[in-house]
Amino acid sequence: MRIVLVLFSFVSVATAQELSFRAHDKEIQSFSLEALKKLAPAKDITVYEPHEKAKVTYSAIPARAVFEAVFKEDWKEADEILFTCEDGYQPSVPAAKFKKYAAYLSFAKPGKPFTMVNKLQNNEKIELGPYYLVWDNETFPALKAEGASDSPYQVVAIELVDFEKRFPGMTPPKKRSPQVERGFLAFRKNCMACHTINGDGGGKAVELNYPVNITEMLKTSWLRKWILDPTSIRFNTTMPAYNPADPKREETVKDILAYLREMRRHKRKPVPKD
Ligand code: HEC
Repeated sequence: MRIVLVLFSFVSVATAQELSFRAHDKEIQSFSLEALKKLAPAKDITVYEPHEKAKVTYSAIPARAVFEAVFKEDWKEADEILFTCEDGYQPSVPAAKFKKYAAYLSFAKPGKPFTMVNKLQNNEKIELGPYYLVWDNETFPALKAEGASDSPYQVVAIELVDFEKRFPGMTPPKKRSPQVERGFLAFRKNCMACHTINGDGGGKAVELNYPVNITEMLKTSWLRKWILDPTSIRFNTTMPAYNPADPKREETVKDILAYLREMRRHKRKPVPKD
């Protein structure tokens, strides 16, 4: 009896949470799960789950249909979609990726608790709700090389952004070398969800540029080792290794370090948010 009550209250809390939508710094609307299901019907979808290294089935709503319904005309010219999570994790995903591949806002696992054990982050047990963004990597196998990037859980807000306007402190000057450009894009895809540059980025891990840039503090060889395999340096760290599924890992990490080195020359005191 007690267990039934606990489960019931868990489910009602998870579904009561509204998902808020913003576009270019303006609030648009918040939706309950029931209201989202009216925008686009829910279905069960099975994907390869990179955090658990196994196939998993989720109950989910197609993301693109939701974006089209909520953002309307704005969606056609969208640059990036920024996701905000309960714990401060804040990844930004190019809108083009949602146009090319199929993503889903999942809200449950049929017949199972909506949790997972994150093998990429020290086997942390994680609550996925209220929403977890999953990609249909069974229909689009090319997505498997992306690993767990662009897959935020505990999503509470979704915002349409013009990336360089929204995150000027993370953006290197327009005149940038091709390597710095590649590193900037890779940092956005793999690091900014947790880390900030000049205060811009996610709130889950430390600032990497201000006042002392991390490349001024740590030797390149240690930085490279840390990014490729953090647990080889700190056995209990929750920082995930840079995407193990990327065939060009070593080169990408070099590019990220080139971007970080460039940002030494562009320090800006972080502006307090709110
Ligand atoms: C899921 C969150 C997360 C992601 C993604 C992430 N990190 Fe981290 N990072 C952390 C945490 C947490 C720490 C602090 C060490 C700890 O507590 O384990 C850290 C520490 C670091 C440090 C050491 C900072 C210091 O001052 O000691 C560097 C450098 C770093 N991360 C770089 C990166 C880079 C580069 C990427 C992208 C390839 C990245 N991180 C992606 C969470 C993350």
